[in-house]
Amino acid sequence: MKTAICPGSFDPVTNGHLDIIRRAARTFDHVIVAILTNPRKAPLFNTLERTDMLKACTQDLPNVSVDSSAPGLLVDFAREKGAQAIVKGLRPIQDFEYEWQMGMVNMQLNDEIETYFLMSRNEYSYLSSSIVRELASLGGKLENLVPPIVEQRLRQKFADK
Ligand code: PNS
Repeated sequence: MKTAICPGSFDPVTNGHLDIIRRAARTFDHVIVAILTNPRKAPLFNTLERTDMLKACTQDLPNVSVDSSAPGLLVDFAREKGAQAIVKGLRPIQDFEYEWQMGMVNMQLNDEIETYFLMSRNEYSYLSSSIVRELASLGGKLENLVPPIVEQRLRQKFADK
């Protein structure tokens, strides 16, 4: 049984994330989408809201589950869950330096957990949660960037603000 972790902030999940999750689910027996704390970011959605959106968006994938963790190391979370792999999406240019650094640190921390990078699909190569939040905050179109349920939650979030 090969288990992979797809970690991230998912604030909120985008179509780019979902493409990576789907592709990981074709390769691994079980994929755990893990909402973890990124100490560099202050989230817009709380963990419960992000979990709810991710569960709704992955409900058609039987070997995918959604989990979250209190602040802690990704490799410790992966070990606790019995995962052998970490799968991350890699967009051209902007992701490389940071992801390379994280991959190296995670390898130093636990050499038994392998990091795999999936190249982001061309149509999602410019997409990020932060651009989606910015667009939503300014009333821009979100079609094809996030699933309808996420668009709805974003509209609601900014209407409440
Ligand atoms: O979607 P993001 O914000 O790029 O995801 C980053 C995330 C949450 C995967 C990363 O910050 C992370 O792994 N957080 C857990 C803490 C950790 O293990 N950091 C790496 C070693 S310092």
